[in-house]
Amino acid sequence: MRGKFITLEGIDGAGKSTHLAWLADFFRQRGIAVCVTREPGGTGLGEKLRKVLLDPGNSMHAETEALLMFAARREHLEEVIEPALDRGEWVVCDRFTDATFAYQGGGRGVDWQRLSQLEQWAQRGLQPDLTLLFDLAPEIGRQRARGARSIDRFEQEQDDFYRRVRDGYLRRARENPSRLRVIDASQSVEQIQQQLKAITGALCR
Ligand code: TYD
Repeated sequence: MRGKFITLEGIDGAGKSTHLAWLADFFRQRGIAVCVTREPGGTGLGEKLRKVLLDPGNSMHAETEALLMFAARREHLEEVIEPALDRGEWVVCDRFTDATFAYQGGGRGVDWQRLSQLEQWAQRGLQPDLTLLFDLAPEIGRQRARGARSIDRFEQEQDDFYRRVRDGYLRRARENPSRLRVIDASQSVEQIQQQLKAITGALCR
């Protein structure tokens, strides 16, 4: 049986990495083979494109940024995601196309319709079975993300950029209500895990 495709989304600092690791373990404990991956990245070429995209020393047009995200995504679908789903594995992906709508569409102002065309072109109708959107106010996200780690090209943006990114995500959630589940990321980790169990339980059956 073909596997399930689950993506995790949210602004930087929303906690998706923590929840992704927990969710992958939760599925494995249920005997499900899991493929954990991320965007931009997930393939040899994709990780090189990720470096280009995140390097604060690079500047590029917003549409170039969107095209590079989709270029990495096309490779990722071809090399990793589709083969894993065909093998019956569940793919748990840290960010996917909703991030392009939120960051390049909402954040940078790239035309929504153009992004929809690229989505159609790159994915040929494939969509995640479930997308978990960890929703958080940018001010809280920024406090949480602040650590010893060096800041990448997106993390150097200001709160108003992240407010537009958040609005972009929420617009995607309104446009795709059956696929996108919005989770209040200001809750405790335990509360969120309970919610994740309830939401993903339906997929496990
Ligand atoms: P992220 O996934 O948050 O990784 P880390 O937790 O290691 O920082 O970083 C990826 C960045 O790329 C993030 O700031 C969002 C951005 N991004 C886009 O702008 N568009 C996209 O389509 C994707 C997939 C990511």
